[in-house]
Amino acid sequence: MRSRNPSTDRYPLDHCGPRRAPTDPAPHTTNLAKLRDAAAICQACDLWKNATQTVFGEGKTAATVMFVGEQPGDQEDRKGHPFVGPAGRILDQALAEAGIERTAVYVTNVVKHFKWSPAERGKRRIHKKPRYSEIQACRPWLDAELNAVKPQVLVCLGASAAQGLLGRDFRVTQQRGKLIESSLAPYVMATVHPSSILRAQDDQSRHSQMQAFVQDLKQVARLLRASTQLPLSA
Ligand code: URA
Repeated sequence: MRSRNPSTDRYPLDHCGPRRAPTDPAPHTTNLAKLRDAAAICQACDLWKNATQTVFGEGKTAATVMFVGEQPGDQEDRKGHPFVGPAGRILDQALAEAGIERTAVYVTNVVKHFKWSPAERGKRRIHKKPRYSEIQACRPWLDAELNAVKPQVLVCLGASAAQGLLGRDFRVTQQRGKLIESSLAPYVMATVHPSSILRAQDDQSRHSQMQAFVQDLKQVARLLRASTQLPLSA
């Protein structure tokens, strides 16, 4: 009879499926469903240990724009879908205001497991910023998504995504909304993370930060119009 390892309280790994070594690349396929299945058992860094599940990107292979955030949040971790919590609602609202069809969009994160620590009191799970090494360990999945979707426009949401993909010196505060030369996609841009708008100190600054975010997304909409024939909603 198989028994748990007493020090980890887990069954041995051969019972749980194959272990992915940190250097294992994602499978060579452009099939997003196969990539999602493979990522579901990823243990390339330690973040899988405290997360409920891998949260892979979502959207069609034919999506023309890819938005890349930092990592799933509490609700995304529970539900298994990216950008379905409060930050996702801000993103959806800004996309609608900018006239970008949700069907043209693929959303994902540079890190696909929720990194958190328990609140000092209560049951809340507090978001923790991923380390650069964790972003790098997760990178094969993002590269596989880019290879599968081949978006015309790649948008990094916030510093973790921008620094993970465009270099550690990248400063969203200085370079937001500007086109960045990169081999990752024909057009590459960074803007703020929608959760920064949720943290605004008062209604007035929340409103002006949202307007600035929408302006950046309108720039994305213009790039999409210029580079594709796909209809936009406004
Ligand atoms: N924040 C992110 O960066 N990604 C999500 O999926 C949700 C919140």
